[in-house]
Amino acid sequence: MENPSMPIRRLRDLRVSALGLGCMGMSMAYGRPDKREAQRTIDRAIELGVTLFDTADAYGIGENEKFVGACIGRRRERLVISTKFGLLPNRLTGLAGGIDGSPSHCRKSIEASLQRLRTDYVDLYFLHRVDPKVPIEESIGAMADLVSAGKVRYLGLSECSADTLRRANAVHPITAVQSEWSIFTRDIEQSVLTVARKLNVGIMPFAPLGRGMLTGSAEASTNLSLLDFRRVMPRWNKQNLAANLLLVHRIQEMAAALKVTAGQIALAWVLSQGEDVVPIPGTKRVQYLEQNVRAVQVTLPPAIQQELSQMRAAGARYPKNSPTRGETTAD
Ligand SMILES: NC(=O)c1ccc[n+]([C@@H]2O[C@H](COP(=O)([O-])OP(=O)(O)OC[C@H]3O[C@@H](n4cnc5c(N)ncnc54)[C@H](OP(=O)(O)O)[C@@H]3O)[C@@H](O)[C@H]2O)c1
Repeated sequence: MENPSMPIRRLRDLRVSALGLGCMGMSMAYGRPDKREAQRTIDRAIELGVTLFDTADAYGIGENEKFVGACIGRRRERLVISTKFGLLPNRLTGLAGGIDGSPSHCRKSIEASLQRLRTDYVDLYFLHRVDPKVPIEESIGAMADLVSAGKVRYLGLSECSADTLRRANAVHPITAVQSEWSIFTRDIEQSVLTVARKLNVGIMPFAPLGRGMLTGSAEASTNLSLLDFRRVMPRWNKQNLAANLLLVHRIQEMAAALKVTAGQIALAWVLSQGEDVVPIPGTKRVQYLEQNVRAVQVTLPPAIQQELSQMRAAGARYPKNSPTRGETTAD
């Protein structure tokens, strides 16, 4: 369902809207979800020409896939569904508890995802985290079998290293790498980006808004609810947050000068990194979605672009020992 005001980009051979919608927060992570507003957000995204919807089997321990599948309903054929397997949620906390990239887990996971999403195929199937116990060739081999069986159209890797990407792509073409990339997070620029571009692999940056911090919204505080997992993230501890908010205030000044919002600057910066880049900002609110979608019309002047490119967040992306750290976490 293409909308003339929403540009189209390509992740390898897959045509998608220039901005996707991250659906994780509709079931977990950033405070108490409001299902009605989240459903309205998906409806409005479709109206505005967003065609790419990102979920994972781990989000809300399957609840997010169920929710996205139910919201999309009959519009499924016109949309691109991206989901993931391999990250095992801790059933007590709902947070990541382990990794399983084995072929048997892959085969089992796709069946459960298809059922929850109410569909016969997934457009883009990601290995959520590379399993250090399983050679990547085996994980990708099992995923490629799903393509042959018509259950999956394209394959992706999340938070992989450049070497893993090369090895994976030798087994089956990788359509996209989904890794964190924003003004605050640059790990991917060290080597993954160069290799992805050599191999014609598209880039799907997650958390392009720095998990909300780059918008300067009220949630950029240490006073977060128990349902908000930013409480345990190093960038939100008191000391790092103070340093990070100084940068956010500078971005807000730039935004005021350009008559846009800080979040739009953050998204415009990621979008400006190349036509092969399709960020998936997450929101469960119509108002934020509408603001985010307008970022596709924002052009950043070179001086601002230059200044933003020098910024880095203080603090690690994930807590120490979290299985979500992946192969690209630099700190
Ligand atoms: N592959 C992976 O390992 C991985 C990891 C994390 C996320 N993801 C995917 O990437 C998507 C995006 O990442 P993310 O959601 O973690 O981080 P994000 O997009 O950087 O930020 C999401 C946060 O920003 C807030 N927000 C969004 N638009 C806003 C606006 N215009 N003004 C003020 N606040 C705004 C949201 O608030 P509300 O929630 O209140 O709307 C939410 O708290 C996820 O939904 C998920 O699909 C993938």
